[in-house]
Order: sequence, then C-alpha cells, then structure tokens
Amino acid sequence: VLCQQTITCRAAIAWKTNSPLAIEEVQVDPPKAGEVRIKLKSTGICGSDDHVLKGLVPMHFPLIPGHEGAGIVESIGTGVSSVKPGDKVLILVIPQCRECNSCLHLKGNFCEKQDVLPASGLMMDGTSRFTCKGKRIYHSFRTSTFSEYTVVPEFSVAKIDDAAPMDKICLISCEVPTGYWAAVHSAKVTPGSICVVFGLGGIGSAVVMGCKASGASRIIGVDINEEKFPRARALGVTDCLNPRNLKKPVQQVVKEMTVVGVDFAFEAIGLVDTMLAAWDSCNQSYGVCLIIGWAPPNTKLCLEAETIISGRTMKGVCLGDYKTRDCIPQLVTCYLQNKINIDPLATHQLPFDQIHKAFELYHAGKVIRCILLF
Ligand code: APR
Ligand code: ZN
Repeated sequence: VLCQQTITCRAAIAWKTNSPLAIEEVQVDPPKAGEVRIKLKSTGICGSDDHVLKGLVPMHFPLIPGHEGAGIVESIGTGVSSVKPGDKVLILVIPQCRECNSCLHLKGNFCEKQDVLPASGLMMDGTSRFTCKGKRIYHSFRTSTFSEYTVVPEFSVAKIDDAAPMDKICLISCEVPTGYWAAVHSAKVTPGSICVVFGLGGIGSAVVMGCKASGASRIIGVDINEEKFPRARALGVTDCLNPRNLKKPVQQVVKEMTVVGVDFAFEAIGLVDTMLAAWDSCNQSYGVCLIIGWAPPNTKLCLEAETIISGRTMKGVCLGDYKTRDCIPQLVTCYLQNKINIDPLATHQLPFDQIHKAFELYHAGKVIRCILLF
C-alpha cells in the first residue's frame, strides 16, 4: 500500500537547546523509497534524549527528539519489503542496514548508517520529513519518536511479534537491550562474579537485571540519588553506594569491599569521572569495564598508561553488541515467553500530551522509565 498523503499530527518540538518542549501541529511527509511511516503507540524518555535537549551532544535544531519507540506501520515507501502497513514494530536508534562494513562483520553492530555519531538530523537523502509552521524540522537519530507519526529508514525498523503489548514494549527498542545485553552478551557476566554498576537509572537498572540473570553473586550499585536504591535492591543490587556520602573516592571503597576489585564494572551515566571510577574498581588482572554511558563530545578519558599491561579490559558497547534488527525481535519474544521481565523498569506511564510532566519526573529522579502513551 503506497500512501502519498501528508499527515498532520502532534509532535514535541525542541526549538532550541535548554528550552521546554513545545507540543505543535506538524506535517509528516509520506515515506520516500526505502522508508517507513509509523504511528507511534509508546515511547520512553531515555538519558540520551535529555543529553540532546541540554545540548550536551551536537544536534541540529529545531528537532523532534525521542528514539525509544514502538508503533504500527502506517505506510511504506517503494522498495520496502521487511514490513507492511499494520505490522507492529520497534524503532531502532542503531540500525542494521545489512550492507555496511560493520553489519557484514561477524562482531560489529555499530551500523555505518546510524545517525548518532555524527548526527545529520536528516534522512538518507539529506532532507527532512517534518514541517512545522512552514519550517523544516530536523529528525533526531532518524527516529524522532516524540511524535504521533514519524518516518524512519526501513533499516531502522524491526518487525515484532503481534502479541507484544504496545504500552511498554518500547523499552525493548533501547533501554532493555542496552543494559541487559551489555551484561549478558557483551560482558558475559559469569556465575558467582562480582559486579559494580555506576548509575541506577533506566539503563543501569537493566544492567543490574542482566548481572542478576547471569548469576552474579554480588552487585554493587552506585548512584548519587538514594531514591534509586530501593528499586535497585529489588532488581538484585546487594550493596548501594552514594559517592557523595563517602569519605573516600568510590573506587577505593569498592576495592576495599571486594579486596581484589570487581570482575565486571559498568558505567551507565555518561561522565568521564564515573568511567574512570568504573575502570579503577576492576580487578587489575581480569577485570572488564564496560562503558555504556554517552559522554559529551571533546571530552577525553585519561588512564594511567603504566597500569594497562596488567590485563584489564575496557570496552564500549551499544545495544549489547547485537545486530539490532536480527536480535531485538528475539528479545521481544523472550519477554512474551516470560524469560525476561521488563515490567519493573516501566515505573511510570503518562499520555503523550503530558510530556512536560514526564520530564519533570525524570529530572526529579523519581522514575526508572516514564513511558509516554499515544
Ligand atoms: N555518580 C553516580 N550516579 C550519577 C552521577 C554521578 N556523578 N550522575 C548521575 N548519576 C545517576 C543519576 O542519579 C541517575 O540515576 O545516573 C543515573 C542516570 O540514569 P538516567 O538519567 O535514567 O539515564 P539512562 O537512561 O539510564 O542513561 C544513562 O546511558 O545510554 C546512555 O546516553 C545515556 O549517558 C546516558 C546513560
Ligand atoms: Zn550497516
């Protein structure tokens, strides 16, 4: 079904950095060749969206933010074969084009057609599908899920099981795989191991779930917001640390608690200092440090060079090193089969038009994930 109509709907627009989102009437163009237009059902508010709105990562404004989304295919452009109107889909911040060097490599998953590093804010043909008050509006990550309708490339769309509950499955487009897979697949956390997780927000909580599922015997959670501790403990954190209440640097406390340092350290905040603390918390010989948080551009991570040879590993990871379009639908199926429970991560739900309230709750540190429903 080829639909050539422009759709007028509501979307949240960031006209500039550090200004409140404005819910506006926007025109969403029909999908061009290789593109898919999606009616959103739910979208999550992730730390990366907050980085974008604060201007911590370079993006073009005005833009429609949001990247963690679930919806129904409304129409497809020419040549699209993997989805059809009516399909339930997840929108992928890291696509899988199946043609580029990374996609063809056995291990890589950072598809070269991603629009994160660097971000053009435009579709593959260099144009945008959104207009508001006669002005062109940029996309974010070619996902822009804070809109009733969005247009994304086919390679950024994963068709999922028809039985998926659309009011929370959006978490499986980013938060759950980013955290959970980092632990179970990328780090391959081993039974009986000791882990530390820096940041107990949405991503860090999913990391904790992955450590627990992998049989970690001890999971140390680090966060400056102690309101995160009860939920973290419920997910499997055994020891909670607030660096602001410690007399020594947190890495020193972790080292003392564990004597030899941890087997696995995860950074799920996006700050250089906590990345270094995660590295320093690791066992010097076999410790593995995974960086999940997105640091601002032009910041440098400075390690003591002479300590590198002892054998520790530092590794960056997005979406758990899995090829997204191949693997994310499988994670949805795991959820439907009760092999993974994402429900504790979906702490809040609000209608889309209460997006301001959702960001207030996020900034107040009250939520793990607030999901917006369309
Ligand atoms: N030390 C410890 N914890 C901190 C610090 C700090 N200096 N600064 C912030 N935190 C905590 C916050 O209190 C919060 O609980 O880190 C957590 C971050 O969680 P969220 O804001 O929910 O963000 P999330 O969606 O989990 O993303 C985390 O991962 O993918 C990246 O871009 C994303 O960099 C971001 C990170
Ligand atoms: Zn690719």
